Amino acid sequence: MTESQLRRSAEDIYSEELKALCKDDGRPRPANWKMSPQAVVTFILGGHAPDGTKISAKYVGNRRLIETAVATLATDRALLLLGLPGTAKSWVSENLAAAISGSSQRLIQCTAGTDENQIRYSWNYALLLSKGPSPDALVKTPLARAMEDGTLVRLEELTRMGSEVQDTLITVLSEKTLPVPELDISIDAARGFNVIATANNRDKGVNELSSALKRRFNVVVLPSPSSLDEETQIVIKRVAEIGTSLTLPPIQSADKELARLVTLFREIREGKTINNKTKLKTSTGSLSTAEAISVGVSAWAHAGHFGNGVIDAQALAANIVGAVVKDPVQDKVALEEYLDVVARGRDGWSDLYYAIREVL
Ligand SMILES: Nc1ncnc2c1ncn2[C@@H]1O[C@H](COP(=O)(O)OP(=O)(O)OP(=O)(O)O)[C@@H](O)[C@H]1O
Ligand SMILES: [Mg+2]
Repeated sequence: MTESQLRRSAEDIYSEELKALCKDDGRPRPANWKMSPQAVVTFILGGHAPDGTKISAKYVGNRRLIETAVATLATDRALLLLGLPGTAKSWVSENLAAAISGSSQRLIQCTAGTDENQIRYSWNYALLLSKGPSPDALVKTPLARAMEDGTLVRLEELTRMGSEVQDTLITVLSEKTLPVPELDISIDAARGFNVIATANNRDKGVNELSSALKRRFNVVVLPSPSSLDEETQIVIKRVAEIGTSLTLPPIQSADKELARLVTLFREIREGKTINNKTKLKTSTGSLSTAEAISVGVSAWAHAGHFGNGVIDAQALAANIVGAVVKDPVQDKVALEEYLDVVARGRDGWSDLYYAIREVL
């Protein structure tokens, strides 16, 4: 992996932290784990390694949830991270795999087009035709490799694939084996193998999670940030990290503007003002924390390249409109109402009011 890569994996970005956490980790670790469960929780939530190295927080939220997720992975039950869009399911899954198995790259992206061959194994047809079925002609999926090596495999957006394909996982999860009837063999899971799946319960086009499969997963629901302060803190932190990794031009601190952005997102998302006094129309989009982060990063790029190096109302406005107005009729009405009822009268918000009005 190199610095030129557009997006580096978690194990690459945090390689120093991972090394420090593995070193002198005297606590018991499950077979094939790179570190103890306690060290994994420290990696996700932040803290200090035994040698004093500072560990940054990857996830901001409830410790209990992360402990449950890590404890599940140490058992023979699989982990399903469930939640609304943008609640850090994929991010937590990537970091868990990086900490536990040292790699987050064993990944299957599930879609409506995913079939059983992408879950179990497929064949190298040139070899299959010339030599007939043989172990050499077997093309193993990330799941099959994870079973052999005793590592984690990530299944992204599990419920996007059809229920009958999801059921391919049943034998793997309960018997820990993957039969290959053509060769009369089976791929048996080594200790340390487990599955982290993510699924979101709001998007359109998702399938039911089959009940047989549901029983084999421990479900951990990742909630939206509970308070305005917590969400603002997450957005400020991630915008700084992502902007820096994209080497955007340096800008002055944007904390105040990002706080306004999160307030606006939360109020429209929840259909009421923070002080609970005014009811508002909601928008069709999810206006998740993840979207606030991307509006923040885009505004930074705008301010850094075209503005005067400060994220201001102008830099935010176009990006806010783009994020809120997904449905040109309904969402526009919601944003217009928000401007008139909330933004116009709020102290210190007139610049944002006019800037958004201009682009709307
Ligand atoms: N509580 C949180 N702590 C830290 N980062 C968060 C939190 N919530 C959201 N984020 C950030 O939001 C961004 C998007 O998260 P991610 O892509 O993992 O969401 P997701 O739940 O997988 O969404 P989707 O359902 O759309 O796939 C990441 O950069 C992540 O860091
Ligand atoms: Mg995701």
